[in-house]
Amino acid sequence: MNGSGGRQNDARLPASAPTLRDGLLAAREDRADDPAAVHAFRRLAGAYGTPLYVYDREAIVGRFREFRDAFSPRFAKLKIHYALKANTNLAIVDLLHREGAGAEVVSLGEILTARRAGVAPKDILFTSSSKSPEEIAYAVENGVVLNLDSVDEMALAAARSASSGRTARVSFRINPGVDPHTLHQINTGIAESKFGLHLMNGLALEAYRRALGTPGLAVAGVHCHIGSQITETSGYAETARTMLVFVRELKEKLGLRLEFLDLGGGLGIPYRDGEAGMPAADLAAVLKPIWDAGVAALGYEPELWLEPGRYFVGPAGFLVTRVNSVKATPLKTFLNVDAGFNTLVRPAMYGAWHRARVVGRRGSETTVDVAGDVCETGDILAEGRVLPRAEAGDLVVFLDAGAYGFVMASGYNARPLPAEVLVDDDTATVIRRRGTLDDLFRDQILPGEPT
Ligand code: LLP
Repeated sequence: MNGSGGRQNDARLPASAPTLRDGLLAAREDRADDPAAVHAFRRLAGAYGTPLYVYDREAIVGRFREFRDAFSPRFAKLKIHYALKANTNLAIVDLLHREGAGAEVVSLGEILTARRAGVAPKDILFTSSSKSPEEIAYAVENGVVLNLDSVDEMALAAARSASSGRTARVSFRINPGVDPHTLHQINTGIAESKFGLHLMNGLALEAYRRALGTPGLAVAGVHCHIGSQITETSGYAETARTMLVFVRELKEKLGLRLEFLDLGGGLGIPYRDGEAGMPAADLAAVLKPIWDAGVAALGYEPELWLEPGRYFVGPAGFLVTRVNSVKATPLKTFLNVDAGFNTLVRPAMYGAWHRARVVGRRGSETTVDVAGDVCETGDILAEGRVLPRAEAGDLVVFLDAGAYGFVMASGYNARPLPAEVLVDDDTATVIRRRGTLDDLFRDQILPGEPT
């Protein structure tokens, strides 16, 4: 401390300079013209280039804790798994694991990511509807919990258990036939979906009966996941009731006592101003009486497992892009940015809405389409938005890009993948280097060249 006293004690000095995080928050609150936002995004774009994925560490931790604090006082035996598919960056998986999350995974790559972040195999649930024999072998031999999606998979798991002398801990994914009223492409609990064993026609019950009679399998639980970006609690309520009745049936008909009942993930987040998404506390409050009644009827309490992805990471992510050019056509004005559906596919793939903010501009609003740099008409990141007038060189930031953003990016149009950066207060850390033009050629071989 110097002789003039600490900075906090000196009324003549301005409050401490805004941090990078202050800038991210300002942009979220539609104050992208605030000096904090201007400083933060120019600094990030200047240091790491665009397009750039930026994640707010404190927001991820905050979302996880809010979720945990909503559920843990109400559910005595609770286990929260992070659905890695939402964002598989190792630093993010590591962060959530340190907060106490296990992992829900869908591929060997995700299993290895969870392992590398230090998640114990018993805390990894492997839930793909189409697992390869190699993936099943790895799970069985390394003690990862196998969430089986078919009787064929059960046979593969049993064969692998026999040949390796291990016992596989398994559950089955159930298709409860519930419609959670979300987008068709991400609606997984309806009877037409490819996922899970149907309760209908006794198929799920029969699968459990067979599993119990199969050596090498330890039947540990039951799982379901009805969809993603769900904003109504009613589908969850119906699913919880249905699943608890099924767990009772397993006890009464097969004498089976399960370690866990996994009700999946899927909580929606607000993508537009004024939306509420699905606050964890709302879901916890709806599930509590259903759970208590179900458990009382059951006569024992399994662990409640939940596995959100988007809820933890979605609102914490920003996609920073730069305007290459502005073009007024007879019908529309386009802001042509340096990212496209190769960078963020959600708008093109699902018609999804991500709020767009023009950094450092306010007023003189115009209606524009923020267009991507992919050579396809459908490559529009934000359509018909009223935004402050922007110029070439300006930064446009998309909000809520932390889930299903980078992980769904592709190399289409021979563009390298973007970088990812984690912001902690006023520190930015690169957690994935930007792809390079050399990467484009690294794995390609002309016929006749040595392999
Ligand atoms: N568990 C299972 C078995 C899942 O299939 C999923 C997501 C989750 C958990 C996590 O769901 P969340 O809590 O993140 O909603 N690409 C789409 C979303 C696909 C979700 C696939 N499954 C999108 O961008 O909206």
